[in-house]
Amino acid sequence: MQADDILALLDKAQSEVGSATNSQELEQVRIAYLGSKGRLKEIMKSLKDAEPAERPAFGRNANRFKVELTESVEHRKGELAGQASEPSGSAFDYTLPGKWRQVGARHPISIITERAIDIFHAMGFTVAEGPDIETVFNNFDALNTPPVHPSRDPQDTFYLESGELLRTHTSPVQVRYMLSHIPPVRIVAPGRCYRRDTPDATHSANFHQIEGLYVADRVSLADLKGDLSYFAREMMGPGVDVRFRPHFFPFTEPSVEVDFTCHVCDGEGCRVCSHSGWIEIMGAGMVDPEVFKAVGYDPEQVTGYAFGMGVERIAMIQYGIKDIRQLYENDTRYLCQFE
Ligand code: PHE
Repeated sequence: MQADDILALLDKAQSEVGSATNSQELEQVRIAYLGSKGRLKEIMKSLKDAEPAERPAFGRNANRFKVELTESVEHRKGELAGQASEPSGSAFDYTLPGKWRQVGARHPISIITERAIDIFHAMGFTVAEGPDIETVFNNFDALNTPPVHPSRDPQDTFYLESGELLRTHTSPVQVRYMLSHIPPVRIVAPGRCYRRDTPDATHSANFHQIEGLYVADRVSLADLKGDLSYFAREMMGPGVDVRFRPHFFPFTEPSVEVDFTCHVCDGEGCRVCSHSGWIEIMGAGMVDPEVFKAVGYDPEQVTGYAFGMGVERIAMIQYGIKDIRQLYENDTRYLCQFE
């Protein structure tokens, strides 16, 4: 045997180790090469027969044979043991308690919005939407709001560097919709609104409205009163009273503010309704002819009513919420109780 033969034999032995499929097979391979009567013994015996010049290389390779093959056998033993202890390939403990994932609930703002949409849907309204960032034209000009109107003041409205603004009400959706559709129109438009209000128990700089617009050839104030009274009863229950107070909006004429009896005290008077028994829920009125002109409708041909209601207001009286800010604190313990 030559020094190089030892390395060839090591290769062969290692491939046999690698292909052993269980520990008995592996043990046989180990005995054949490393056992007391194995090939390593033969190698050591033939060392003395080697040429003196070849002896150092022979000795090195013999040592390498022993060390590397022993390592391979140990490694393979570990691999085979691992397979045996996990026959199913998994050590998952099915008796462990599961990880609890908290399930949320719909936000009261969403619940009220969806219910209102359902009620108007049954009356023939469809849903329209517009962006939070609006043009001055859609938010003010087309809605007949004069350039000097106080609501345009940067103290009240968030203007962007682009010259656009964060819409102060959902009424610009009326403008967008009429500009892109011919009458008749019957839409509700829910969405966020922004005003530079200082937050307190009843004010937020970011609140929600639902706009409504009904335009056809003979829509009257009686339709407005009838439809909104019907909505109030569907929303709050048959016991609710509705009152219409004369008001002014640049984009409606005549204009009204619509109050519902306070649901928290049933009209008796409490903190939520400032002891009046009534809560102001929306502004409304007959669409001003100037608005029709701005969107290309003929005021001689069509009339219409419009309204914009505060979603938070409805949520507060519906659920007896005393501070509007609780709706925005994202405390799930609080918010999960409404559904
Ligand atoms: N846009 C008015 C507001 O935000 C509400 C309104 C809408 C009034 C439609 C009349 C008609 O106060």
